[in-house]
Amino acid sequence: MKIFILALVLHMTRAQYDPHMKHGRTSIVHLFEWRWADIAEECERYLAPNGFGGVQISPPTESIVLSNPWRPWWERYQPISYNLCSRSGSEQELRDMVTRCNNVGVNIYVDVVINHMCGASGGEGKHSSCGTYFNAHKPDFPSVPYSSWDFNNDKCKTSSGNIESYHDIFQVRDCRLVSLLDLNLQKDYVRGKVAEYMNTLIDMGVAGFRVDACKHMWPGDLKAVYSQLHSLNTTWFHSNSQPFIYQEVIDLGGEPITASEYTGLGQVTEFKYSAKLGTVIRKMYGEKMAYLRNWGEGWGFMSSDKALVFVDNHDNQRGHGAGGSSVITFWDPRIYKMAMGFMLAHPYGVTRVMSSFRWDRHIVDGKDQNDWMGPPSYSNGSTKPVPINPDTTCGDGWVCEHRWRQIRNMVIFRNVVNTQPFSHWWDNGSNQVAFGRGNHGFIVFNNDDWPLDMTLNTALPGGTYCDIISGQKEGNHCTGKQVTVGSDGQAHFRINNMDEDPFIAIHVDSKL
Ligand SMILES: *[C@@H]1O[C@H](CO)[C@@H](O)[C@H](O)[C@H]1NC(C)=O
Ligand SMILES: *[C@@H]1O[C@H](CO)[C@@H](O)[C@H](O)[C@H]1NC(C)=O
Ligand SMILES: *[C@@H]1O[C@H](CO)[C@@H](O)[C@H](O)[C@H]1NC(C)=O
Repeated sequence: MKIFILALVLHMTRAQYDPHMKHGRTSIVHLFEWRWADIAEECERYLAPNGFGGVQISPPTESIVLSNPWRPWWERYQPISYNLCSRSGSEQELRDMVTRCNNVGVNIYVDVVINHMCGASGGEGKHSSCGTYFNAHKPDFPSVPYSSWDFNNDKCKTSSGNIESYHDIFQVRDCRLVSLLDLNLQKDYVRGKVAEYMNTLIDMGVAGFRVDACKHMWPGDLKAVYSQLHSLNTTWFHSNSQPFIYQEVIDLGGEPITASEYTGLGQVTEFKYSAKLGTVIRKMYGEKMAYLRNWGEGWGFMSSDKALVFVDNHDNQRGHGAGGSSVITFWDPRIYKMAMGFMLAHPYGVTRVMSSFRWDRHIVDGKDQNDWMGPPSYSNGSTKPVPINPDTTCGDGWVCEHRWRQIRNMVIFRNVVNTQPFSHWWDNGSNQVAFGRGNHGFIVFNNDDWPLDMTLNTALPGGTYCDIISGQKEGNHCTGKQVTVGSDGQAHFRINNMDEDPFIAIHVDSKL
């Protein structure tokens, strides 16, 4: 009996760290600003067949509609009610998407904005995604309803009412983040409204949440909200499954608020991972891939079982948030694929793949003047659908990094080697490195300015393997390079530094 209770307690406390992915799948893709109808199609036609475990969707609530600048992507981070009609579609379309993705074993994780409502200068009227009235001056959001006493106005001690110093933890939690009206989550009423919103999504069938701006909320308040959440819908999940929660906390060090204050509540986004991997692959500040031997906790990151990791996210790919010039994005495709290859091969953390839209980048003195630009849209402001080209790439400005062969095949690699240990590290003291995942997979990188020509121990069973970076196994054929592994596990690798993609990856399912 004691053992049973202990097991139960362990299960309950561990639960919010489990992404509940199906069929041994391991990665989340962020389909940034995609319409619900397109995500439903993508789950069925692409994500499930290619082993993606889940989708992070853009905030689904009603938000403000802004015209200056015109329809920026960040308008969706300014809710004006918890009605489920947004730039991505209606509540009916959202429900249809959740059902269809769940039915093919792809989970939905919802980006929830619960720290604040719209900006203080958001005005009064019905300029919202479903035409609901609100008044940012008072403030008054009758559709929730929230009124002036549901906000933190009195608690904030800065003269502007905004966060002025990140070194004062009270300002960071009780004042307005870039003027966004700060909800008072100390109030049971506000906690209840937020939990009600999240429970509506849970009942619909979502598997969890990316919680926006957690640094700006007190951990105790978040705990009180999370404790009111329902278990996941048993149509698709085991009974008593708790929602997977990953919290956005930007902690690059140097501030009094740290990610560790939040790891007891759920998973946390590890921003150091994105910033540091960028400096290594770009070879900034004397960094080398050889130093990645102890990547993970050895680099001062949070423990692997608490970390949600990414090469770039929707903020830092356009200079928002943190990470700066080291962050690698689709704008630098060659090193982006290498960074993604490293992340997806390495066992640290739960991996999230970014899927972006292109915008008219215009960098002046290191700052992108167009960092606000929203998704591909018609002149009436509606988001364009994602058209799929005959060669499987996306059109109309949708980048679809998750469909790039090298990235998609590495998502599959991660599933194949899941639970296998990090092993058989090799490096040349510079930027040529290799490692395995037990006896299930092996990857070799050449980020030096000269060729790599080495025999390495892959620990894989003897045979001929198809490299999943330059091509892939199709039937019994390989469309890319082939690697011969001897019965002793040794294989010879040649990677020219001028190759389109200077890395090679093989795994047990790519054996010919
Ligand atoms: C779970 O999802 C099913 C299918 O959509 C739905 O019929 C049921 O009401 C949901 N359960 C809860 C508790 O909302
Ligand atoms: C916006 O324009 C597109 C393309 O013409 C059209 O399909 C869509 O229905 C319009 N949306 C609204 C809300 O008028
Ligand atoms: C690795 O780089 C070093 C320089 O750091 C170089 O001397 C060596 O030849 C390289 N090794 C291989 C296998 O290319």
